[in-house]
Amino acid sequence: MSAWFNPARELDALLRQAAASVPALGAGFNPELKPSDPRHADFQANGVLGAAKQAKANPRALATQLLEALRAGGGLDERLVQVEVAGPGFINFKLTPAALGAWLREYRDESRWRAGAARLMGGRKVVIDYPSPNTAKQMHVGHLRPIVIGEAVARLIEFCGADLVRDNHIGDWGTNFGVLILAIRRAGFQLDAKSPTALEDLERLYKEGSAATKADPALMDAARAELAKLQSGDLANSALWKQIVEVSNAACQRSYDQFGLKTDVILGESFYRDKVDQVYAELAKHGLAEESEGALVVWHDEEPRFSRDAETKMPFIVRKKDGSSNYASTDLATLLYRAEHLKADEIVYVTDGRQQDHFHQLFLTGAKWFKASGRQLPRLRHVWFGTILGEDGKAIKTKSGDPVRLQELIDEAAAKAFEAVSAKSPDLPEAERRAIARAVGVGALRYADLSSNRTMDYTFSWSKLLAFEGNTAPYLMYAGVRVRSIFRKAGLSVGQGEEGADDPVTPAEIALARKLVAFTAALDQSLEELRPHHLCTYLHELASAYGAFYAADSVIVDDPAVKARRLMLCARTSAVLECGLRLLGIEPLERM
Ligand code: ARG
Repeated sequence: MSAWFNPARELDALLRQAAASVPALGAGFNPELKPSDPRHADFQANGVLGAAKQAKANPRALATQLLEALRAGGGLDERLVQVEVAGPGFINFKLTPAALGAWLREYRDESRWRAGAARLMGGRKVVIDYPSPNTAKQMHVGHLRPIVIGEAVARLIEFCGADLVRDNHIGDWGTNFGVLILAIRRAGFQLDAKSPTALEDLERLYKEGSAATKADPALMDAARAELAKLQSGDLANSALWKQIVEVSNAACQRSYDQFGLKTDVILGESFYRDKVDQVYAELAKHGLAEESEGALVVWHDEEPRFSRDAETKMPFIVRKKDGSSNYASTDLATLLYRAEHLKADEIVYVTDGRQQDHFHQLFLTGAKWFKASGRQLPRLRHVWFGTILGEDGKAIKTKSGDPVRLQELIDEAAAKAFEAVSAKSPDLPEAERRAIARAVGVGALRYADLSSNRTMDYTFSWSKLLAFEGNTAPYLMYAGVRVRSIFRKAGLSVGQGEEGADDPVTPAEIALARKLVAFTAALDQSLEELRPHHLCTYLHELASAYGAFYAADSVIVDDPAVKARRLMLCARTSAVLECGLRLLGIEPLERM
């Protein structure tokens, strides 16, 4: 008996098939299969209710018809799934202990899950654009979300079988370089790329330059002239620019290392400087772009906000009136490059929510341009996120008003985690406690971010993110360590001792088994919406189900059959927890 990797997906497909022979349900019937209240069922299909209303039919009668068609279809094995019509016309599906046992025996480890999930993204070439910071700035708290969310989404996509390219699209070609170069020249500053303070120096100079150019229009013109020189290939400015980018990339890399980030390519905005002319020419040729007050712009009249008639004019400006390129031009050139050279079937952009308009216009423009030029448009998705707020409800800042540096945040997280770990496990050697604290601290920073729905703002709170209780990294990491310790105490390695394990029996075993099987649905949902918080919620529920099981049923018992079955549940819990944490970018621990 072979188990379904993702029962929800299979049932959904079977229901759609069966619906074809129940005309009253209408074409394109959506079963709306959802996880159900676990006391009654694993899933319930609610779609008949709406369809019955449409057809003015009795929903229970229609649901019964659909259920009969489902049975007649032959795809359903009722030894594995119990079905019934319930309430006003839902259909409930309950996995039997036999189905749960079959799943647990078949989907044992990461390699099996990967193989099962590969049908979601297998064979697709995906480019993910993150963390894509602007250069010449130190990494600060604003960079946390693109790093953390970007990495989790990347891992998820890769896990589900895609051939993934992580492309760090750094902002290394913007107006700020004019200001920075001018400030360096005015200060007579000699940039030494090897100096440990190089980036801080650049940041200070940039601040000076930006204050000076704001105060004096003549200096602003001088800054523009420096940028124009850079963009037209002036040797001195190009050499200086190159050094600035190197200093900045090296500093960023030190932050990435602490988050385990490895991007495959860094193709920043500057890479596209000689590729924007083709964009202008093609958009003009296909009548998509037009001149407006000297700039080249694209209108989208079908979208009220971006149309010519909108009150606040918001065209997509693809070339500035001084003839220079901008964020839109480089992004269009980037889109073409990724489609043609990287052969992307799909592109995922990870940025904050303030760029929604930009990406909306980029995607509309890209769709029209590719259609007009007979190209295949990759699937384009903008994975955007909200702001991190301080406990006062405002964006977090230092006392001086500057954003908190990322390194300070990491160090503080590790220091606070060290106190917590030392309180919990005072007997571990100090060096080990320090290493654990780093992992827990960075894990907690990540998890606090990932566990809230990314499109919401979230409130940063040290006490919440480092708590050993609740939906937190320390809680989940500790749960993982506790499962491992069962094996260690029994002198087994994880996965040993479950040979011949049978289907779950006791209520606590069954409840835990059902949570384990629900892993695939959580993966599916996280992938579909590219929202890692679904996976977090799931892992937290799994850890709770494990806690309840552990409290109810002893694992190391004399009866060999009972022991094998419970060891299997422990091993699967350990593997799912650890695999889930890794997908979120959190490295599980052996002890803590
Ligand atoms: N550098 C930009 C920023 O810091 C993000 C770039 C995102 N990627 C893109 N292709 N536009 O806001």
